[in-house]
Amino acid sequence: MSKQFDVIVIGGGPGGYIAAIRAAQLGFNVACIDEWKNEKGGPAPGGTCTNVGCIPSKALLQSSEHFEHANKHFAEHGITASDVKMDVAKMIARKDTVVKQNNDGILYLFKKNKVSFFHGRGSFVKAAEGGYEIKVAGAAEESLTAKQIIIATGSNARALPGTPFDEEFVLSNDGALRVGAVPKKLGLIGSGVIGLEMGSVWRRLGAEVTILEGLPTFLGAVDEQIAKEAKKAFDKQGLKIELGVKVGEIKTGKKGVSIAYTNAKGEALSLDVDKLIVSIGRVPNTIGLNVEAVGLALDERGAIVVDADCKTNLPGVWAVGDVVRGPMLAHKAEEEGVAVAERIAGQHGHVNFNTVPWVIYTSPEIAWVGRTEQQLKADGVKYKAGTFPFLANGRARALGDTTGMVKMLADAETDEILGVHIVGPQASELISEAVVAMEFKASSEDIARICHAHPSLSEATKEAALAVDKRTLNF
Ligand code: FAD
Ligand code: NAI
Repeated sequence: MSKQFDVIVIGGGPGGYIAAIRAAQLGFNVACIDEWKNEKGGPAPGGTCTNVGCIPSKALLQSSEHFEHANKHFAEHGITASDVKMDVAKMIARKDTVVKQNNDGILYLFKKNKVSFFHGRGSFVKAAEGGYEIKVAGAAEESLTAKQIIIATGSNARALPGTPFDEEFVLSNDGALRVGAVPKKLGLIGSGVIGLEMGSVWRRLGAEVTILEGLPTFLGAVDEQIAKEAKKAFDKQGLKIELGVKVGEIKTGKKGVSIAYTNAKGEALSLDVDKLIVSIGRVPNTIGLNVEAVGLALDERGAIVVDADCKTNLPGVWAVGDVVRGPMLAHKAEEEGVAVAERIAGQHGHVNFNTVPWVIYTSPEIAWVGRTEQQLKADGVKYKAGTFPFLANGRARALGDTTGMVKMLADAETDEILGVHIVGPQASELISEAVVAMEFKASSEDIARICHAHPSLSEATKEAALAVDKRTLNF
């Protein structure tokens, strides 16, 4: 006998578990299926984000930043800390505890919201009388049926052709978060978000880090001025980033990895490292979903084809998060999950892609929302720009962290804010003000006229807004 639900969510990452909770809040009888296992084989909902993504990477970034502060910056404050050591095993164990707290939190939220959780792989069996029949292959096999299906099966790390991840020498994001000792030499391929975050963790802990990037420009999607400032800071820290390389043969030996590559000048070189992290993007995941059984359409990248409302080609089947088009970000997945649950309930769920913020959690942090200066130029939009350096911000000086700036771009005629780009301390938190402002279609003058607490880093945002009108007060 198939168990009947109103809504079945396949995948318990940020897209799926949030969709399940919102659907349950709206009064539906909801099942959520997730196959992720913890080291004991038990359920570990939360997906990539919780298990091998956002949460564990931020735990390691925090630990490694404390280590770097103790080693390099405590002295500026008059604190003597000698013989500072990092117990890598303890750092990894702490990270695992943080992950488990999040897994348990989601299981608690399912209970609280009366979402039925099934641990195992969900796959389509057929279109059935009451909607779609879904098989759950877990410890026990179950059959579930619902009229509404939300697919949130996420993404997997992309491997280099011919070089599969062995997670001992050639690491995906998963292995990169479980390295047992600081490698003497660490190589990374791809200076995108994972390359920079993971490169920063292991550099702070003492590894000699080299990142090989295929593109000739650093962080091409980021505002050029901001990317340039960030690159300067990373260079100063000793994070070696080689742009415009062409990676050739990769050989794994007993002790490490040798990467043949051609640099931007066309010279043939090789890089020998103890570990190699491959961070060249991610691929949408529909493995084992049996999409053929119901004729669910995928595009040439393997992503599930959806319209602006996350509707697939099948009635009653929706897809959200990394498995569909758009940025692969946890908060984008969550917003889509909420919007779909609300649409199923006949409401008008909405996701504004123009105001999805991006954050790279390096030091300095990089965060942005809206269009970059180069995009505005390409779009032929007339704009005004204002920047304000953290060097002139009192709170940044007190923190001892004055790298970077806030940059605001506003329409030349209407003054509406079109983009805000930050490189510097706490950029991840500061960007929220810009997101709110842009959602409410604020002008730069609105931000300039709003009272900001003193001393705070957010005053740099206000000053950047004043700079749009060429009237900064503190610079
Ligand atoms: P996922 O989180 O991938 O979840 C999918 C879930 O579905 C998984 O649990 C999977 O096991 C399960 N599943 C798949 N197929 C089936 C099936 N057939 N049956 C049952 N279960 C199935 N984003 C940010 O916004 N901020 C960050 O700081 C950030 N840091 C990151 C750091 C790293 C190292 C990585 C790799 C990613 C990071 N991301 C970050 C991206 C973020 O993790 C993803 O965008 C997000 O997890 C996508 O959510 P999702 O729900 O679409 O998919
Ligand atoms: P990415 O797309 O951010 O960066 C991949 C980089 O690899 C690019 O710069 C690309 O030019 C380069 N590249 C691709 N193929 C290459 C090759 N053959 N040789 C050399 N360089 C090559 O992908 P990444 O870092 O793997 O992260 C995946 C996604 O996960 C991100 O795009 C983001 O959506 C998400 N993520 C988000 C985080 C955050 O929000 N803070 C943190 C980490 C990941």
